[in-house]
Amino acid sequence: MMKKITIAIDGYSSCGKSTMAKDLARRVAYTYIDSGAMYRAVTLYAMQTGLFEGDNLDLEGLKRAVPNIRITFAVNPATGCSETYLNGQNVEQQIRTMAVSDKVSPIAAVGFVREAMVRQQQTFGRDKGIVMDGRDVGTVVFPDAELKIFVTASPEIRAKRRLTELQRKGESATFEEVLHNLAKRDHIDSTRKDGPLRQAADAVVIDNSDLTIDEQNSILQGLFEERTRQ
Ligand code: DC
Repeated sequence: MMKKITIAIDGYSSCGKSTMAKDLARRVAYTYIDSGAMYRAVTLYAMQTGLFEGDNLDLEGLKRAVPNIRITFAVNPATGCSETYLNGQNVEQQIRTMAVSDKVSPIAAVGFVREAMVRQQQTFGRDKGIVMDGRDVGTVVFPDAELKIFVTASPEIRAKRRLTELQRKGESATFEEVLHNLAKRDHIDSTRKDGPLRQAADAVVIDNSDLTIDEQNSILQGLFEERTRQ
């Protein structure tokens, strides 16, 4: 029998981590967890409860709020996709807006928020058989993951992909705005003190700037087979 493993997929914003992680999870019948969605849900909660005043974040208020924030995932039977719930309410659409993207990095830089999210992520992965994507999955959440992938792509390609995704959802943004938002998030994500975006020493690097989805999938499938055989 093939052994069940833990798969950690980290990398910059909008380089196709989630497509990659979702496709792989579906093919090998593993659970998929989008750790970024959890930071986005905390951000939405902070926005909805008035913890932001412009760009100023009420840290004390956030600290008090964290125990009241319950994030869960459920597969939508119509699409087969995992969707994010905040205190029982489906927030999958809301957490993907530019408004949330603009505020998520400062939230994800807060130590006590990361601590709470990481703890929950580790619970999700207790029984292995999980694919999780994020920034610190291979370094902090699952340092012992059997397969770690670090995904990169050029900033222009990433901005183009994000713009297409936003436009498909009917949001208007310019290429420059998206490029700027990505650069800003990458900077905050890579330089924060707690759980910065960093390549794990034992991660396999995949630059998918010039890869088709099929090519990417077959690289991953090969790695999966190799690691489950060992
Ligand atoms: O992957 P994403 O763009 O949905 O992630 C949203 C934000 O959350 C991103 O700016 C970085 C942060 N994040 C994080 O700090 N740690 C993770 N494991 C996943 C996401």
